[in-house]
Amino acid sequence: MKIESYLTKTLQIEFPLIMAPMHFVSNAEMVKAAMKSGIAGTFPSLNHRKDGELEAMIDTLNDYYKSENPTGTYGINMIVGKSNPFYQKHLDICVERKVPFYITSLGNPKDVIERAHSYGAKVLSDVTNIEHAKKAHAMGCDGFIAVGQGAGGHAGPYPLQVLIPALRKEFPDMPIIAAGGISTGAGVFSMLAVGASGVSMGTRFISSNESKVDDSYKNGIVNAKMEDILLTDRLTGTPSSAINNDFIKKLGVKQRFFERFLSNNRFTKKYFKMYIQMRGMKWLEGEVIPGSKDSLWMAGQSVELIDDIKPIEEIVNQLKAETIEQYMQTQKFFV
Ligand SMILES: Cc1cc2nc3c(=O)[nH]c(=O)nc-3n(C[C@H](O)[C@H](O)[C@H](O)COP(=O)(O)O)c2cc1C
Repeated sequence: MKIESYLTKTLQIEFPLIMAPMHFVSNAEMVKAAMKSGIAGTFPSLNHRKDGELEAMIDTLNDYYKSENPTGTYGINMIVGKSNPFYQKHLDICVERKVPFYITSLGNPKDVIERAHSYGAKVLSDVTNIEHAKKAHAMGCDGFIAVGQGAGGHAGPYPLQVLIPALRKEFPDMPIIAAGGISTGAGVFSMLAVGASGVSMGTRFISSNESKVDDSYKNGIVNAKMEDILLTDRLTGTPSSAINNDFIKKLGVKQRFFERFLSNNRFTKKYFKMYIQMRGMKWLEGEVIPGSKDSLWMAGQSVELIDDIKPIEEIVNQLKAETIEQYMQTQKFFV
C-alpha cells in the first residue's frame, strides 16, 4: 500500500515526508540518506557560509541524484530577508544550480518564489498563523509548512489539530505540510487525517546515525521527556525549543531588559536582530563540535517518543510501516 498526496506527486517522492532543515545539524550524509529512503532531505543554505561551500554541497547532491537515481529528492531552506546577510548570494547559487525545491522561513519570500518559478521549482513557506500564511500566499508560494506547538527550533503557538484545519478553511486549495512534535507513523497518519498533504520532521532525525552532532546530544534526545523542553527567547529573539540542560539553565529563557529595548527600538532593531542571530548561530555551532557536552541541544517535544539512534533508512521504513498500521487500526472504529 502506498500513500499519494500533493507532496509525493509534486516532489516525486515515495512517502510524504520532509526531513526538516536544521542549523548545523543537517549534513550531506543525512540528505543523501533521506533521498535514498524515498523522502525529501533538506538543509539550510546558512549551514554553508564559506566561499564555495554551498556550491560544493549542491553539486554533490545533484551528482548523487543523477548517479544513484534515488526515490527521494532534496530542497534548500532560505532564511529570507535582512537578518540573513548571505541571502542574495545564496539564492543566486541555488537558482543557477536548479535546486529542486525551497523552504522559506522568517521574512518575505517573494524573491525566492519568483526565481524558483522561473525554472519550475516549488516553494513551501513556513507559517505559524493565518496572517503569516496570507502574506506568503499573496506572494505566490506553492504550499505552507504549518509549524505548530512543540516543534524543534522556532515553535509555533498553536496545536496542529487547530492550525491545519484553520489554514484549510482559509485556503481550500493550498497544500499544507505539518511540522512540530511528530516522530511516529501514528503522528504522520493523524496529520493526514486533519488535512495535511505530508509532514516535516526535524528532531527525530537528530538522533540518527548520519547526524554528526555529539553523542551526548543524541542521547540527550533519547533520554529527554516532553517536560524537559523549554522555550527560550534568548537564542534568536523568537521562542526556540531546546532541552533544559546546563547550557539553557545558564542562558535563561527570557530576553534581558536591554535586549528587549534594542530589539524593539526602530533604529537598532535591524542590527540587533542580525547580531543575536549570529550569536545564536555561534551557540548552535557548539552542538556539532565533538565532545561538547554542555552545549545547546535544540529539540522539540517529540523527544518523548524517540527511543533510539539508528540509520535514517530504518527510521523512514519504520515510519512507513507505522503509518499504514495506524490506518488499518483506525478502520476498526468504523462499524
Ligand atoms: C536543531 C534544529 C535546528 C533547526 N534549524 C532550522 C533552520 O535553520 N531553519 C528552519 O527553517 N527551521 C529550523 N528548524 C526547524 C525545523 O526545520 C522544523 O520546523 C522542526 O524541526 C519541526 O519540528 P520537530 O523538530 O518537532 O520535528 C530547526 C529545528 C531543530 C530541532
